[in-house]
Amino acid sequence: MSATYPFTSALITGASSGIGEAMVHLLGEAGIPQVIVARRVDRLEELAAGYANVEVLAADLTTPEGLETVLNRITGDPVDLVVNNAGFGTSGEFHLLDPERMSDEIALNITALTRISRAALGVMVPARRGYLLNVSSVASFQPAPKLAVYAATKAYVTSLSESLHEEVRGTGVHVTALCPGLTRTEFQSVSRTDSYTTDFPAMVWMSATEVAETGLRDVARGDALSVPGTFNKVLAAASAVAPRTLARRISSLVQRG
Ligand SMILES: NC(=O)c1ccc[n+]([C@@H]2O[C@H](COP(=O)([O-])OP(=O)(O)OC[C@H]3O[C@@H](n4cnc5c(N)ncnc54)[C@H](OP(=O)(O)O)[C@@H]3O)[C@@H](O)[C@H]2O)c1
Repeated sequence: MSATYPFTSALITGASSGIGEAMVHLLGEAGIPQVIVARRVDRLEELAAGYANVEVLAADLTTPEGLETVLNRITGDPVDLVVNNAGFGTSGEFHLLDPERMSDEIALNITALTRISRAALGVMVPARRGYLLNVSSVASFQPAPKLAVYAATKAYVTSLSESLHEEVRGTGVHVTALCPGLTRTEFQSVSRTDSYTTDFPAMVWMSATEVAETGLRDVARGDALSVPGTFNKVLAAASAVAPRTLARRISSLVQRG
């Protein structure tokens, strides 16, 4: 049986695979009209063919043109759920990282997410209704040596989303940061963390569908933070109380494998 949601329409970035794709299926099964965004338009078209009322928007969100396309769609024909899900990571020693890739990571995970959040709340707050779901990570709760830029971008996403959650309190608009842990998607090959699939036990991994279900449920409820799975909840709670020296040392040891 498909879930029921309070949303009447949605826009999802990073909809061509992983968590975003899983959200498209959940919202499609619930009959919610959607705008789906990514670069791989063939994948988006295939997905759109499976449901009624799915609009495909091809956009590279690291480019001014791609970002403008999405911002114009949000302001021109508003939707009441916006999911900032597109994102990627890069593992490796900071001083050896490709500077261009690093800039793209910041452009996508931070700049595009911030501009899309601004556009979404710009129409939602005056309408006194709407839902903004920003996909962050449990990596946002502590530093992550060898995944440093990624963890820093996600710390920004969690902080921004929690601030906005409080700012719009009482307006009828809900802002939620979804903080997944290890989730089986294309993220591992894109971020060059394929070794995680063998380094970490099966019990700590979640499916994209489980994460997507949790995020959509929690933004509908109006939660500030959505942490899917018991293991990730324990990790988040431990990070909140552990001394910073301890948290970053443990994180460093985990990255060493
Ligand atoms: N998987 C995990 O373990 C995990 C854990 C915590 C948080 N997250 C977060 O979850 C979110 C979704 O990731 P995922 O795990 O589902 O990974 P994924 O399968 O690699 O999906 C990433 C999505 O982002 C899109 N994307 C990448 N670069 C883009 C760009 N320049 N412009 C527009 N779209 C772009 C990709 O589509 P195209 O390539 O077609 O553009 C794809 O649809 C990310 O924000 C990630 O940081 C993932």
